[in-house]
Amino acid sequence: MTYEKLTVRPMTPSLGAEIEGVRLDRPVDDQTRDELRRAWLEYQVIFFRDQDLDHDSHKAFGRLFGELHVHPAVPGPEGHPEILIIHADEHSKFIAGESWHSDVSCDPEPPNGSILYLHTVPPTGGDTLFANMAAAYDTLSDRLKVYLEGLTAHHDGGQRYRERFGDTGVGGQAYPQADHPVVTTHPETGRRILFVNPVFTTRINDIPAAESDALLRMLFTHVHDPNRQVRFRWRKGSVAFWDNRSVQHMALWDYRPQVRSGFRVTLRGERPR
Ligand code: SIN
Repeated sequence: MTYEKLTVRPMTPSLGAEIEGVRLDRPVDDQTRDELRRAWLEYQVIFFRDQDLDHDSHKAFGRLFGELHVHPAVPGPEGHPEILIIHADEHSKFIAGESWHSDVSCDPEPPNGSILYLHTVPPTGGDTLFANMAAAYDTLSDRLKVYLEGLTAHHDGGQRYRERFGDTGVGGQAYPQADHPVVTTHPETGRRILFVNPVFTTRINDIPAAESDALLRMLFTHVHDPNRQVRFRWRKGSVAFWDNRSVQHMALWDYRPQVRSGFRVTLRGERPR
């Protein structure tokens, strides 16, 4: 199927496309919205340039694709709990997302997608890497696919959030934890997805701890093979919209003491199956 309302420029053979022909701060017609959704599912992460979003237009764009998620560990700006501030400068002790992960996979219903807008970027650096987890699954050996079938893994938000934000999350809530299949089925594309990541996945259930540790080490290396990645170079006003069910991502922090800043809106999801 072709795109009539959008210009779609694929960026690698594996994933990622740059989209032209749409202003995200304006209402879009149904056909444009449907084409955006189709491109998001087809390319797993889509990128836009020269956008100008405030919190309301950012949230309105997100709501075209579903309800908005509220982050369990990081409060939003006043009056906008659904907005996640992404900011790093010379004083930062850490940044959001500098290891491979899918967003909040520790949630019993992890987010479907995330829409990140940057209004301030360093002169060089600060790229984000995205990796295709359907291709990561496809390239496992048939023997390993059989072994992983039916296994679940534990994802624990505390593993990352506790050291950064203290013992509890927003409003004193406990950090989310959940068991998810190691291999999920994407609810919209039907593709099989490798769904473990080094930020949140703490162990594979029902196998010996040493076996879980060794297997996760191998899988965590497998997920970031550069042959299945796209690397996005940000400019002021760029937007990345990724499918959190089928990609992992990692933000580079190679620009300190420069500033990199923006906002993320995140889409609520369903229990992975
Ligand atoms: C994140 O959402 O994990 C942050 C990604 C980025 O800042 O590039």
